[in-house]
Amino acid sequence: MATMKAVRIHGYGGPEVLVYEDAPRPQAGKGEVLVQVHAAGINPVDWKVREGYAKDRLHHRLPLILGWDVSGVVEVVGRGVKGLKSGDEVYSRPDITRDGAYAEYITIDESLVAPKPVMIDHVHAAGIPLAAMTAWQALFDAGGLSSGQRVLIHGAAGGVGTFAVQLAKWKGAYVIGTASARNQEFLRALGADGTIDYQNVAFETVVRDVDVVLDTIGGDTQDRSWTVLKKGGIIVSIIGPPSPQKATAYDVRQAYVFLEPKLSQLQQITTLADSGELRCIAGTVLPLAEARRAHEISQSGHARGKIILKVR
Ligand SMILES: NC(=O)c1ccc[n+]([C@@H]2O[C@H](COP(=O)([O-])OP(=O)(O)OC[C@H]3O[C@@H](n4cnc5c(N)ncnc54)[C@H](OP(=O)(O)O)[C@@H]3O)[C@@H](O)[C@H]2O)c1
Repeated sequence: MATMKAVRIHGYGGPEVLVYEDAPRPQAGKGEVLVQVHAAGINPVDWKVREGYAKDRLHHRLPLILGWDVSGVVEVVGRGVKGLKSGDEVYSRPDITRDGAYAEYITIDESLVAPKPVMIDHVHAAGIPLAAMTAWQALFDAGGLSSGQRVLIHGAAGGVGTFAVQLAKWKGAYVIGTASARNQEFLRALGADGTIDYQNVAFETVVRDVDVVLDTIGGDTQDRSWTVLKKGGIIVSIIGPPSPQKATAYDVRQAYVFLEPKLSQLQQITTLADSGELRCIAGTVLPLAEARRAHEISQSGHARGKIILKVR
């Protein structure tokens, strides 16, 4: 049996359950492609799955390869694959219920695979699909953000936030982002019109008349966000459903988004990445064997932009 290097978990727990080891090399089934992984993006869902979060919902089988953001090259196409061929450079947010991309190879359904942006390398491409599509769906599909509107983006220096700031600017919105002191200048360079150091300023005392709040933090941050909205505005959370009762009480709307990968959106994102309008900020790049360290950084809650595992 052909093998490959992979980082797997054999049980749920802390970063120590991540094991860099030999694993069976997967084979492309019907409608699937075998992708040689060049880089895998880290997302907080990776360590949440590692800890056993949603194990009843996602029905993972152990041992499990984590990581649901990937950029690489198609090596083999399975039966029935029409739109891709061996040698194509691609990226994807693969099916989260199956083995992920902390490995030398991954099989992915053709419907989830898009040509990668040609103007950026695999390391930067691997950080895009999950976080950029989440920002897109939260701001545009759920939030209905349009040109001239005002948006408050919590966690603007993080994986989703860095894409949200850029996408909202591209749309023509006025963008206010929250981050700690060390990221204020970074947010302005990313395009934010206003920034708030959330550790020293209560954002709800300085922001008002916002059309859309993007909540990537939850808890108290979500709770304190109602009063910054205009009447009829909307709070969109990617953490948990905001209270419908509070939305009614404040005369605003609320929505919760859980990413559903859509190839048409990823293709639009690819165009923006190729034109330089959307950049992946790869704040940390580590070799595959250092997945534990990558998880520790992600779990600190203070990563800047994306954390990427370089596989090749
Ligand atoms: N529903 C979905 O489909 C979906 C999809 C993607 C992600 N998510 C979830 O969304 C959350 C964010 O994901 P992510 O990838 O953006 O995470 P991330 O990259 O780990 O976010 C880290 C960022 O959060 C900032 N931060 C921490 N506490 C903050 C606070 N109180 N106020 C403002 N900023 C704060 C940090 O900035 P400083 O260092 O400056 O403090 C840091 O830049 C995670 O819980 C993730 O699981 C959900």
